[in-house]
Amino acid sequence: MRHLDKKDVNYFASLVGNENVLSDESLKEPYSHDYTEDLRFMPSLVLKPATVEEISGVLKHCNEKKIPVTARGAGTGLSGGALPVEGGIVLAMERLNRIIDIDTQNFQAIVEPGVINEVFQQAVMEKGLFYPPDPASKGSCFLGGNIAHSSGGPRAVKYGTTKDFVLNLQVVLASGEVIWTGANTLKNSTGYNLTQLMVGSEGTLGIVTKIVFRLLPLPRHHFLMLAQFETAKVACECVSKIFMEGTTPSACEFMSRRAFTASLDYLNIKFDLPENAEALLLIELDGNNLDMLHNEGLQVAENLLGWSCVDVLVFDTAEQQEHIWKIRRSIGEAAKHNNVYKEEDTVVPRAYLPALLDQVAEIESRYGFRTIIYGHAGDGNLHINILKDQLSDDFWKNVIPKAITEIFEECVRLGGTISGEHGIGYVQKPYIHLALSDTHRHLMRSIKNAFDPSGILNPGKIF
Ligand code: LAC
Ligand code: ZN
Repeated sequence: MRHLDKKDVNYFASLVGNENVLSDESLKEPYSHDYTEDLRFMPSLVLKPATVEEISGVLKHCNEKKIPVTARGAGTGLSGGALPVEGGIVLAMERLNRIIDIDTQNFQAIVEPGVINEVFQQAVMEKGLFYPPDPASKGSCFLGGNIAHSSGGPRAVKYGTTKDFVLNLQVVLASGEVIWTGANTLKNSTGYNLTQLMVGSEGTLGIVTKIVFRLLPLPRHHFLMLAQFETAKVACECVSKIFMEGTTPSACEFMSRRAFTASLDYLNIKFDLPENAEALLLIELDGNNLDMLHNEGLQVAENLLGWSCVDVLVFDTAEQQEHIWKIRRSIGEAAKHNNVYKEEDTVVPRAYLPALLDQVAEIESRYGFRTIIYGHAGDGNLHINILKDQLSDDFWKNVIPKAITEIFEECVRLGGTISGEHGIGYVQKPYIHLALSDTHRHLMRSIKNAFDPSGILNPGKIF
């Protein structure tokens, strides 16, 4: 890869405007890190384009001159996907922030990648429509970043992750050429599915510049309950039982006591949690018929109490519901507030969660570290935060990866994999071979070479 010279900088300024080229260290600094651990990589230059044509021009030049390009959304990623680990250019997508169209007849929307997830959710909600994917960082994360990792969130358990809502993408290729990957249709059997190939590709195959999403009708009512358990294992055993009784919750979130109380401390909220509540499930049902929803919710609560749940709290008002959701959504931030940490995005078929938790507890006590465990139990997707606490730097650097390897090996043994929604990015790439065979990775490399023969797009990621 080549370094940038003055001529490159002048050329980029002629494309995107001087004010959208950041070269001062202090201006570039916010683009040198994301939410991943304490990692920092300074880009040579940050560009803030506003149009597909500008991005096309930037990529064409970078491709000819072999300059690395790392696309960046809001920087809320947890696998280091937006970090310019090989320097070069950070392509900040924040100015591509238009909601171009909300089509209430076809239940579709066309947006740019720099739109904030929650801004989009609100905009479609005002038209009676629903965009379900709701990562914990929904208040700041960009839809483009959600595409990059196929982000999920609590509602994925009923509605699916980002990938399940993408119909079509406009993509600028490494060559600067612009393509649409599919069609604005609910069905498409026309050739290879490049749309889904692009989703989750973490900026290594192309730069997404427009997204066509499908939408749903907005569910009118929510029933939310917090179930308390004496052990994490019993809580997780109940998760698959809820589904087996015929209910698909719109969220089914697990929180260890340590996860929940870390968030309470972080937010400075008082909450009377009984001494024996070691684990919690936050369970939400949604629907349009309030009576039916209530009956089903109460039936789930009754079943839980019959399955050794110690108590169930029901939150009736929208205000109470938002309050408890805020506690859940803040766990990630709370975990990293006081501690260096590594977050593992484990995922297994949900009935195997108790087996995974057993194994994690065994690994945790054998290696002697502490964890904060929480996440999307209904999807079998638990975030395991390993806390550094007083562990030595040497142990953290050389021994903890062995423990992480053991956790991931257990996920794979149970039929799961090493990331459910945060991606491989930079921090999980040493482990990808645990989940994907040599042949699989070779095929992925061939695809990467077909899209980006010079290897300029987000180098140092995934492989
Ligand atoms: C969450 C993020 C970390 O579930 O994925 O809170
Ligand atoms: Zn999550």
